[in-house]
Amino acid sequence: MAETKGILLAGGRGTRLYPMTSIVSKQLQPIYNKPMVYYPLTTLIVAGIREVLIISTPEDIPRFRQLLGDGSAWGMRLEYAVQSEPKGIAEALVIAAPFVGEARSMLMLGDNLIYGRLDFLRAAMAHTDESATVFAYQVSNPSEYGVVEFDTDFSVLSIEEKPKQPRSNWAVPGIYLYPPDAAARARALKPSPRGELEITDLNRAYLAEGRLRAQPMGRGIAWLDTGTPENLLSASSFVAAIEQRQGLLVGSPEEAAYRTGFLSTEGFRRAVEALPASNYRSILERVVHEEHG
Ligand code: G1P
Repeated sequence: MAETKGILLAGGRGTRLYPMTSIVSKQLQPIYNKPMVYYPLTTLIVAGIREVLIISTPEDIPRFRQLLGDGSAWGMRLEYAVQSEPKGIAEALVIAAPFVGEARSMLMLGDNLIYGRLDFLRAAMAHTDESATVFAYQVSNPSEYGVVEFDTDFSVLSIEEKPKQPRSNWAVPGIYLYPPDAAARARALKPSPRGELEITDLNRAYLAEGRLRAQPMGRGIAWLDTGTPENLLSASSFVAAIEQRQGLLVGSPEEAAYRTGFLSTEGFRRAVEALPASNYRSILERVVHEEHG
């Protein structure tokens, strides 16, 4: 299978969360008991992606680096790059070009939370042709998102950004799989009226060439928004309900790295032992002991 590198975009001003975001980036805000960025990073790890570039603002990059490090404790390679102005999601692919090289890329937005069995990601990654993949999730309010319409063979018929009259209820979540030419395509885009390189314009460029596929995520998946205080609270309640019921963690990079095989049992034990005394550590210690009695 072709190599896939991860791009985690954690930029933007997060103005809808002001005043919290006046000093800390949106993607570092807590969702229940962890910084928001842990959740999408865990999703990339579960997808089997070992090398991830984190992109954020010049002010926030040092904080992300402090939080996540170089990834070696998780058997990964994490790198960092700056997006100096919020010039659009598609610009992340341009910024990531030297990191991605000739690989494919899975681009994920740092404020998207996906919970459930991630088979749909592996299904998308199993395609080895030169198509791009957008995912599709049924929502009651499609006008607030990118909206995709697709055929029975999952080829995309149309994709529109926040249409007033959506052609389907299938929203496009902030996770995308691109072939190696994505940076070149993104570079060729013209900025939209709001001055951004729009991800939907990039996807339309692939659609125009018949190279855009839609992969439905299925009803068993939760895709949650975290952009407003209300959404932040709902996402926190969702994570708290599952964690309290199961006694397990949602969105733990350490555990995901272990289960994906990035960390050996010994490596996982070391990663857990390096954590400060906390509920987070206690839950992971239970995972270590359950597996090895
Ligand atoms: C962006 C994309 C949109 C997508 C959404 C997912 O919108 O432009 O197509 O559905 O992310 O989170 P934004 O949230 O930046 O307005």
